[in-house]
Amino acid sequence: MFTHILVPIDGSAHSLKAAGVAIDLALKYGSRLTFLHVTRRFPVPEKLKEYLSAEQLQGEQLYALDEATEKVMADVKAEAEAKGIAGVKMRVKEGKPSRTIVEYAANHAVDAIVMGSRGLTDIEAALLGSVSHKVSSLAACTVVVTR
Ligand SMILES: Nc1ncnc2c1ncn2[C@@H]1O[C@H](COP(=O)(O)OP(=O)(O)OP(=O)(O)O)[C@@H](O)[C@H]1O
Ligand SMILES: [Mg+2]
Repeated sequence: MFTHILVPIDGSAHSLKAAGVAIDLALKYGSRLTFLHVTRRFPVPEKLKEYLSAEQLQGEQLYALDEATEKVMADVKAEAEAKGIAGVKMRVKEGKPSRTIVEYAANHAVDAIVMGSRGLTDIEAALLGSVSHKVSSLAACTVVVTR
C-alpha cells in the first residue's frame, strides 16, 4: 500500500503521535520511513550577534537549538528500529516547513505523509495548524493527519 512514508517532526507531542501511527503503518505495509524536520533561520539582532561572536558562542548557540530537535528525532528513530523497521532515515532541512515537506515528498517517491493536525503552537481554537493545512492541500500523495 505504502512504500515510503514521510513523517514531518516539529518536536511537538502531536508530531510524536503521528510518528507512532507511521511506525504502525510501516510495519503493516513494510514501508520505508523518513523523519523530516524543517528549520528556519531566525533573525538574530546585530547587538546579539556582536555579543555572541565576542564570546565565541555563535556556533554553540545554533548547534544547541538543533540538538534538542535532533534528540526528539533520534528517539523516534530508535523507537521505529526497536519495533523492527530497518533503514529509518532522519533528515533536517532548512526552509519554509510546508513547501519543504511537499517538495521532499515529491522528490523522494514518498507515497504517504503522516503528520499531526497541530504542532508546537497548538492554539485550542484551531482545528488544523497552517503546516498540516498547506501540506494536505498541496501534496500529490496521501496525507494522514493524526489527532
Ligand atoms: N518545522 C516543521 N518541521 C517538520 N514538521 C513540521 C514542522 N512544523 C509543523 N510540522 C508538522 O505539521 C504538524 C502540524 O503542525 P502545524 O505547525 O501545522 O500546527 P501548529 O504549530 O499548531 O500551528 P501553526 O504553526 O500554524 O501556528 C506537526 O504535528 C508536524 O507533523
Ligand atoms: Mg507550527
